[in-house]
Amino acid sequence: MEYKRIIRFDSLDSTNNYLKNHLSEYQSGDFILAYTQTKGRGQHNNLWESKKGNLYFSYLIKKRMNRDELFFYLMKSSLSVVKTLETFNIKAMIKYPNDILVNNKKISGILIESLGYEEVEALIIGIGINVNQKDFPEYLQNPTSIVNEINQIIDVDEVMNEYLKKMELFKDSEDIYKQYLEKSLILGKNVVHKGIKYHVSNILNDGKIQIQDSSTIKTVNYEEIKNSIKYL
Ligand code: BTN
Repeated sequence: MEYKRIIRFDSLDSTNNYLKNHLSEYQSGDFILAYTQTKGRGQHNNLWESKKGNLYFSYLIKKRMNRDELFFYLMKSSLSVVKTLETFNIKAMIKYPNDILVNNKKISGILIESLGYEEVEALIIGIGINVNQKDFPEYLQNPTSIVNEINQIIDVDEVMNEYLKKMELFKDSEDIYKQYLEKSLILGKNVVHKGIKYHVSNILNDGKIQIQDSSTIKTVNYEEIKNSIKYL
C-alpha cells in the first residue's frame, strides 16, 4: 500500500475547516482525523453531530482539475466507504451523489469542497462514518451506525485503516465508474421533470443524470429532478 500520512487530533471544529485553514502545511494525499468535532459540517450547511466514537476525517487533493474529475473523486470516495463497510459485513448502497445508506438508513455522509476560482485547484473530501453511536437526535430522518447494524463496537482507527486500504483498490477510472453505477440507488427511480414522468436510466461519468420515458432520453442536472425522487 502506498504510504499515506494521517494526522490525528482529539478534537477539531471540523476536519474540513482545519484543512482549509492550513492548506499550505499539508500535501496532497494527507488525511486529517479528529475523534470529535465541535462544528462538524454536513451538506447544505447542516450540522454534523460529531460525538466521540464515530469516524470523522478529511483528505486533501492538491491538483488542478475540471468539474468532471471532481465527480471521479466523489465516486471513488463513496465507493471506498461502501467497500469499507463490506469488511464489517454491512451491505451499503449510494444515494446519489454521495450519501451512504444501509437499508435506506444513512450510515455515512461526504462533504466535498473545492478550492479555486474558474478551475478547481484543490479538493477537501470530508467523510463521516457512524461507527459506535447507538442513539441519534430526533431531527435525523433515518440514521444508523456500524454498531446498530452488527451489534459490535469497532475501533474507529480500524475503520480508518480499512478505508485507506479500500481506496487503493480504486485506481482505474472506468472501473470506479462501473462499480459506482452498480451501487447507485438512483438508477430506475421515477422522477418528474417539467411536469413529465421519467425514470433514471443512467448516470454519466461527469455526474449528469439521464432520464427516460417511452419516447425520450434527456440529460439533466441532479438539482432539476432531486425533489421528485422517493427512496422509501
Ligand atoms: C453530509 O451531510 O452527508 C456530509 C457529512 C460530512 C461529515 C464529515 S465528518 C468529517 C468532515 N468534517 C466535517 O465538518 N464534515 C465532514
